[in-house]
Amino acid sequence: MKEDQASFTAMLVAYMRAYHAMHDTPKIFDDFLAYRLIPEDKRALIEQYLSGWNEQLNDTEHAKLRSDHTTSSSLMQVINNIINEQKWAAQLFSRSRYAEDTLEKAIKQGVKQYVILGAGMDTFAFRQPEMMKKLEVFEVDHPATQEFKLHRLAELEWKHPAKLHFIPIDFTKESLVTALTSSSSYDPKVKTFFNWLGVTYFLTRDEVFTIFHSITEIAPADSTIVFDYLDTDAFIYEKSSPQMQKSLEYLRKIGEPMITGFNPSTLAEDIASLGFHLQENLSPKDIERRYLQGRTDGYQVHEHLYFACAVVE
Ligand SMILES: C[S@@+](CC[C@H](N)C(=O)[O-])C[C@H]1O[C@@H](n2cnc3c(N)ncnc32)[C@H](O)[C@@H]1O
Repeated sequence: MKEDQASFTAMLVAYMRAYHAMHDTPKIFDDFLAYRLIPEDKRALIEQYLSGWNEQLNDTEHAKLRSDHTTSSSLMQVINNIINEQKWAAQLFSRSRYAEDTLEKAIKQGVKQYVILGAGMDTFAFRQPEMMKKLEVFEVDHPATQEFKLHRLAELEWKHPAKLHFIPIDFTKESLVTALTSSSSYDPKVKTFFNWLGVTYFLTRDEVFTIFHSITEIAPADSTIVFDYLDTDAFIYEKSSPQMQKSLEYLRKIGEPMITGFNPSTLAEDIASLGFHLQENLSPKDIERRYLQGRTDGYQVHEHLYFACAVVE
């Protein structure tokens, strides 16, 4: 991502969650604070961006969108169509549900620290007061995104929970070990839950594995990480879906290119060598079965995106 600019994709995915919370029934994940957390000018930019997505559609898709646009004056309706067209949306809020459901179980098994890596516009600390009582929470993010968020939180005058800590770090340049252990509130001996959503594909394979390795240095056995990743096919032109190719192109244009995928069938082996047991590896079909079954609103899963849960051995 760009050195001095807050992540646009962080706002984009928060917008998707906000949209889902406000418009969809039943809700997979109710991020009722996300809309307010995104400043108005950024919301306008996102709506513009999503309309731009439209330009990449084929003639039939264009015609469908145009007719929807003329029958409904609501921009949100158009955005809804675009979101459905681009398929990403369902996984974007399903993965947050996956992470927080898994966290809830982990708390029952004694987890006391929650580290959100690449937190973006995550609202957990303000939205989940009951779970907050049982945790120290660390939002770890790129300095530019984190500064932007802190500024917005101050603007909104949201009461800052005492157990919420902000740690700035650029994963490509600094050590997670140093960053987390420099906080006097972080205890490397305490069982910890790491959330790493929407980030792995922006880093190199080595950078991703360095973070995994760091976690084994600062968290005891039975600590957990939940993350999402793209498969390697996403980056092979002949194998990736047209929607994936559109995503890759757009993200390159806005300066947050996705560069790395993992092979779902060798992931367990890859991370075993780093000291992790892969507990769960949800394919797009698994995600669909778990979160989308029975829905009639057209949300679909993205063919290349997986959710995984791994435990420190
Ligand atoms: C797509 S957003 C995901 C945000 C959040 N996890 C979510 O699911 O809503 C990507 C996040 O990764 C962070 N990020 C990307 N590259 C990074 C880097 N090199 N160092 C630290 N954070 C980074 C961005 O700042 C941003 O918050």
